[in-house]
Amino acid sequence: MSKILVTGGAGYIGTHTCVELLNKGEEIVVLDNFSNSNPSAIDAVEKITGKSVKVYEGNMIDREILEKIFTENDIDAVIDFAAYKAVGESVQKPVEYYTNNVSTVLVLLDEMKKHNVKTLVFSSSATVYGDPERIPITEDCRVGGTTNPYGTSKLMVEQILQDLYKSDNEWNIAILRYFNPVGAHESGLIGEDPKGIPANLMPFISKVAAGKLPQLSVFGNDYDTKDGTGVRDYIHVVDLACGHINALDKLKKDGSGMHIYNLGTGVGYSVLDMINAFEKANNIKVPYKIVDRRPGDIATCYSDPTKAREEIGFVAKKSLEDMCRDAWNYEHNKIG
Ligand code: WQD
Repeated sequence: MSKILVTGGAGYIGTHTCVELLNKGEEIVVLDNFSNSNPSAIDAVEKITGKSVKVYEGNMIDREILEKIFTENDIDAVIDFAAYKAVGESVQKPVEYYTNNVSTVLVLLDEMKKHNVKTLVFSSSATVYGDPERIPITEDCRVGGTTNPYGTSKLMVEQILQDLYKSDNEWNIAILRYFNPVGAHESGLIGEDPKGIPANLMPFISKVAAGKLPQLSVFGNDYDTKDGTGVRDYIHVVDLACGHINALDKLKKDGSGMHIYNLGTGVGYSVLDMINAFEKANNIKVPYKIVDRRPGDIATCYSDPTKAREEIGFVAKKSLEDMCRDAWNYEHNKIG
């Protein structure tokens, strides 16, 4: 039976997508170097789905591991999640980010071509829009002006993929631009578990609620938004995972093409909205203080999700309450 290779499959988005793929009856193979994830996450995926997952440990930059995977398995599509994704860290470590986020994709594409596998779903990010040209953001908005190597690395790969498709129209590619993934699978067995102090809002709120951190610092309340705090398009990670299934179905139906989709809800929530929603959903207090803006932050960023709805039938279904409840359930499950 043909299989889907999921690189970075032990990560936050990767595990949730593996669950949806397995639940749909797909056969998957996971490649992960566990640099920002844990093998126990795959055990959790197996527990949730009752299915087994074949895992290869390694880094795509080591061509041999890919050669082994393509030789030992009948792979017919790849979903590529494997990347570093901490914006702040990327500013400190540009070479590591370009090596891990760009060079590895070049090796992957070369191996895919050698084994005549040309169907790829690529994990990109709304960060490629830089300071957005307009809000809500559509896929034809200007890209560039990225303010950190993480975002620039995603932009570089998008350009590589578009050049590749121009050189050979047999390629079958979907680029998915994620907005702000949050939450966790309802089981509480998989979720976002950043090492050290979380950079992103929802994991930070969860750790404050759990008493692991004293209070949340709200990075600025003087933006041109309804309450002065930053506005973002938060999307439940399970909805995001389902968006990959929608994209893959389209690629399998069409057989070739190049597509770019925003995966968001089309609704923007402020930081204060998120704090209030989290407190209400979980009946818990989240102490916070207003501090200076975080360098590189923009005021507002949320999607126009029309294209994904019209072309791949993707619509985010889960509410802000679901996002907050499931994020807390995962954090609380870890404490327990
Ligand atoms: C959200 C809002 C902050 C933390 C980044 C990446 C993006 C994607 C998601 C990978 C902003 C505010 C945050 C805190 C705060 N990652 N905030 N206190 O910056 O929109 O996007 O993560 O794909 O590519 O760019 O997400 O969660 O860091 O911030 O006030 O402790 O919360 O200012 O307004 P961001 P975020």
